[in-house]
Amino acid sequence: MATKVAINGFGRIGRMVFQALCDQGLLGRQFDVVAVVDISTDADYFAYQMKYDSVHGKFKHAVTTEKSDASKPEADVLVVNGHKIQCVMATKEPSQLPWKALGVEVVIEATGLFTDGEKAKGHLAAGRQEGDHHRAGQRRREDLRHGRERG
Ligand SMILES: NC(=O)c1ccc[n+]([C@@H]2O[C@H](COP(=O)([O-])OP(=O)(O)OC[C@H]3O[C@@H](n4cnc5c(N)ncnc54)[C@H](O)[C@@H]3O)[C@@H](O)[C@H]2O)c1
Repeated sequence: MATKVAINGFGRIGRMVFQALCDQGLLGRQFDVVAVVDISTDADYFAYQMKYDSVHGKFKHAVTTEKSDASKPEADVLVVNGHKIQCVMATKEPSQLPWKALGVEVVIEATGLFTDGEKAKGHLAAGRQEGDHHRAGQRRREDLRHGRERG
């Protein structure tokens, strides 16, 4: 089953990571990006940035947007190659992010703000469901760091 991933900070590095997952055919197969977080949830603007990056060239994948709820003022969901990615509003404290509700297992921290373990550990608190789950997350992070695959 695909690992559920969130990207915190959808700036240059966050978008590059996402583009690399798409280009390598991993989106929805090995990794399911379920959320991107930034200081806006304007999916149309993110779609525009992805499609027309002046440094990295045109995004090669199908991108559309939609509203997660008809009452929303703007589209807040990116749809890339048919995969839906929720745009989530930034918080100052990662522990407030909805990782538990979204089932997020791995977070790409790309804001440039939470750059050490102490600052980033709120992500673990946000996703923690129970002791075993937490330990599984730690093992998975170890695997990613060492380039191992987990079946
Ligand atoms: N761009 C590069 O070439 C490069 C190279 C190596 C390392 N880095 C490092 O990667 C990190 C990100 O760099 P970047 O170039 O992508 O920066 P960036 O400014 O393009 O992206 C950061 C994004 O985080 C968003 N953000 C700000 N506060 C936030 C919050 N509280 N929660 C969620 N999102 C928030 C910003 O709106 C922005 O879109 C930095 O630490 C940088 O030093 C960048």
